[in-house]
Amino acid sequence: MTLTTIQWRPSDELTTVARFPTQRLRRLRRSENLRRLVRETTLSVDDFIYPLFVAHGHEVRDEISSMPGNYHWSVDRLAGEGEALSVLGIPAVMLFGLPAHKDEWGSEDYADDGIVQQATRALKQAVPDLIVVTDVCMCEYTSHGHCGIVRDGEVQNDETLAYYQRVAVSHAAAGADIVAPSGMMDGQVAAIRAALDANGFPQTPILAYAAKFASSFYGPFREAADSPPQFGDRQPYQMDPANGREALREVESDIAEGADIVMIKPALAYLDIIRQTRDRYDVPIAAYNVSGEYAMVKAAGRNGWIDEQKVTLELLTSIKRAGADMILSYHAKEVARWLRAA
Ligand code: PBG
Repeated sequence: MTLTTIQWRPSDELTTVARFPTQRLRRLRRSENLRRLVRETTLSVDDFIYPLFVAHGHEVRDEISSMPGNYHWSVDRLAGEGEALSVLGIPAVMLFGLPAHKDEWGSEDYADDGIVQQATRALKQAVPDLIVVTDVCMCEYTSHGHCGIVRDGEVQNDETLAYYQRVAVSHAAAGADIVAPSGMMDGQVAAIRAALDANGFPQTPILAYAAKFASSFYGPFREAADSPPQFGDRQPYQMDPANGREALREVESDIAEGADIVMIKPALAYLDIIRQTRDRYDVPIAAYNVSGEYAMVKAAGRNGWIDEQKVTLELLTSIKRAGADMILSYHAKEVARWLRAA
């Protein structure tokens, strides 16, 4: 056996800064295991909150046409779904309710036997470990479809806060683990914190929809939740998509009011806001990968225009890379299956 001698050559120049050909970034991309070692961001089932739509009735499991793979569930079928999610390892769900009856004050929203209260009890009984997050808002429950009390054609901020307090306390009393105010009223986090504390729920965290934009990506959700505004739009309370600095002020004020987790919504068109929030604050950040974002991927996938699974994982990875700790996504179930199979 001969030993190969490597011939030593003097280099032409001494450089202190590593650059090509010394620096070759491709060296660490040559095999999957090398890539695994240097991968900066990974998706885990631990990251996901799965939204569920609950409706009155029996034996209901109706697919939502614009959100394939997602359903309207009746309370009697919820336990089975909760168990399936728990077996997949998904840590939490977010509940949205379709009431039997709508009125100006959204009264089913804070009724003891309201749809979300019933659903919460059913899930907590069947799968006690599954975290139940409830959306605290009024648009699904009000006849006018706005997120608060309307007077003279305008959503009344302070009057609405008292309703959010009732809703949040009734959700906590039904067993909700986390309440998530999404109505974008000023002071909603402080109001809900005070109400929870005064009613024996000092340990119930608030996941605040802190920077929620007046986005057209909510289209499929509003159809699924039957919650479009019957006049006007939500621009007087949700944020202008053009405003990044203002989003940080929203985040800052929600933290000051006592938010335990802050949410940026939607996610994909707002990755810059997620990143700036991550750089500036040390609170847990949630990002809502909303219905329109989901529907676009599904539609393109069904048309064979994209590789749906790869595109989904790439998009969700981008949300984590931007700085989100947790992601609300209609993809959560399928992603949990893919990650398990991988
Ligand atoms: C309720 C609410 C909305 C969404 C979550 N909570 C709709 C809206 O603000 O009109 C949208 C979620 C989605 O599009 O997936 N206020």
